[in-house]
Amino acid sequence: MKRLIDKLYDSNNLSSDELLLLLNNMDEESKKYLHMKANETRLHIYNDKVYMRGLIEFTNYCKNNCRYCGIRRDNKDASRYRLSKEEILDCCKEGYRLGYRTYVLQGGEDAYYTDDKIVDIVSSIKASFEDVAVTLSIGEKSYESYKKYFDAGADRYLLRHETNSRELYDSLHPDMSYDNRIKCLHDLKDIGYQIGAGFMIGLPNQTNEDFVQDLTFLKKLQPHMVGIGPFIPQSDTPLADEKAGTVEKTCILLSLIRLLLPEVLLPATTALGSINNKGREQGLKAGANVVMPNLSPTSVRDKYALYDGKICTGDEAAQCRNCIENRIKMAGYEVDMSRGDHISLQNK
Ligand code: SAM
Ligand code: FES
Repeated sequence: MKRLIDKLYDSNNLSSDELLLLLNNMDEESKKYLHMKANETRLHIYNDKVYMRGLIEFTNYCKNNCRYCGIRRDNKDASRYRLSKEEILDCCKEGYRLGYRTYVLQGGEDAYYTDDKIVDIVSSIKASFEDVAVTLSIGEKSYESYKKYFDAGADRYLLRHETNSRELYDSLHPDMSYDNRIKCLHDLKDIGYQIGAGFMIGLPNQTNEDFVQDLTFLKKLQPHMVGIGPFIPQSDTPLADEKAGTVEKTCILLSLIRLLLPEVLLPATTALGSINNKGREQGLKAGANVVMPNLSPTSVRDKYALYDGKICTGDEAAQCRNCIENRIKMAGYEVDMSRGDHISLQNK
């Protein structure tokens, strides 16, 4: 397997058959070597910096019904909340005080936030704080809506494709269209956003063949960011009794993505930290270079319950900031509080 990993490291590419061979034969030695090469690549491009994003989970209302997700429409046990524009700006203010220069506004697909409301929120953040980036993660919208948010100042957009296997996608997303999800990613890129795609690891019936499809899709799409994390069951969903994804598999995929897309911004996600106390640190060592600590008010934190056992739900933003900084340092990296744009857009 070392030969294939070297080929991937040198050329940043492998055929689908080669990727599958690698995934099917990942012994301990190959894994170590893969993580080492991914870390080397990340150090070469982004040094030892880890970019920090302040995450604001501003609504847990959602019109969709994804079978894995705790805030799905049919979950009558979810305690729903929405943050006002003022509350969102307060989160940004606290974030700014703590040094954050990127705010990620994430939420369910909630029609309460009309285009005008999102435009107002985005433009108010951009007007209130100097040199900050705003990332939106609010699901599938029309080209026109995406354009309005962009014109209001939104810089980046996260929309995980969730899985590139159409069959698996359809089985998990009642009333949603795989084609539309992919179209949204292309629309966002055309408009000029820094875009983030991504997928879950360990979904029921997901195979290495599916991961190869995810990887080749990402290679073709060339997103600026890729968010991947383990699937974790949530007790009030149809997938409550399924097994969670693993740190091991997630780290293998993080390393493969780092080598296929060397310049990509790659978070070590909260989900990874939730299945293992040292999950995020392991993710960083496997090639990740972003973390997204929570800036949401503690009063609503535990209500954004996408999955069971989510970490950091009781901690104030300042505690999260300190905790993650220590973890990053202990893992051998340095916190970087700048906007942390994709390398191709830095110093422009
Ligand atoms: N509504 C927006 C969207 O669809 O992109 C953003 C919010 S959505 C809740 C954010 C991400 O959470 C999803 O893209 C999905 O990958 C992840 N997620 C949802 N349920 C999960 C679970 N049970 N385990 C792990 N990740 C989950
Ligand atoms: Fe809201 Fe999936 S349940 S987007």
